[in-house]
Amino acid sequence: MPLLIPGPSSPLLTQRLADVCGYEVAKVGYRVFPDGESYVRVEDDLKGEVAIVIQSCSPPQDKRVIELLQLIDASLRAGASKVIAVVPYFAYSRQDKVFLPHEALTSRIIARVVEAVGASSLITVNVHSELVLSYFERIKALSVNAFPEIANYLASLGLRDPLVLSPDKKRYPDAQRVAELIAGEAAFLEKKRDLETGEVTTEEKALAIEGRDVVIVDDIISTGGTIVNAAKVISKGSPKRIIAACVHGLYVANALEKLAAAGVGEIISTDTVESRTSKVTVAKAIAGAVERLLEG
Ligand code: R5P
Repeated sequence: MPLLIPGPSSPLLTQRLADVCGYEVAKVGYRVFPDGESYVRVEDDLKGEVAIVIQSCSPPQDKRVIELLQLIDASLRAGASKVIAVVPYFAYSRQDKVFLPHEALTSRIIARVVEAVGASSLITVNVHSELVLSYFERIKALSVNAFPEIANYLASLGLRDPLVLSPDKKRYPDAQRVAELIAGEAAFLEKKRDLETGEVTTEEKALAIEGRDVVIVDDIISTGGTIVNAAKVISKGSPKRIIAACVHGLYVANALEKLAAAGVGEIISTDTVESRTSKVTVAKAIAGAVERLLEG
């Protein structure tokens, strides 16, 4: 039977996956040397079984990526027949293209090292860009969709005449899907990001919002700037409540405080990044993908 190898960033999700799949969790030791280097050892003999490494690569990304590679390597050294890398949040997925000349193509670097260290396949959740998956040339890489689970949670809130809003036209299909699942309406705003400064601006838009619950959905909340801008536009239309729902809640630079100050009354994320807003679990969605990989 496959064994779960818990990464230091995903203890809760590993346990939830164990509960869903019935797989045992292997014993893993971690240490950080005084100079900051990470040490990982798989303490159990994996006896030719499949190892499922679960390690999200949310901040501090660089450390999490190294631990991921160490976990894959250590699992093979501990006798695993193969390793499925479950990376719920795939770091650097926004660096999926060369936007300005001579930039590093970091998501492809990550794909290459994950392959090189010996993973047999990779599962992630709502990868920011499908391009990232195409950078895996030798192994199968797939992304599972957490929005149906988020929609289930939203449906339990008894929302009033919900408007599901994408803060960016690119993410509109996600908003449409969620709106469909909760019998709401979908809309989008237009957002622009300055490639040099990273500054985000959102255009004003007249939407029928008065008295309604507005749910802003996005894949990632990082600094919160995108959602704060959207909340400012929405607030002008006198909504009943503003809710922000994302898959990956990174919350850097006091994002949660900024969201609250912008009038966001509830923040929902999944356990791809474990935090106090992780109200939705992706364990079942990942378990389904693991099963499909094991069967195929
Ligand atoms: C961008 O394309 C993503 O979908 C998110 O909107 C973005 O990463 C959110 O970042 P922040 O919270 O810093 O605005």
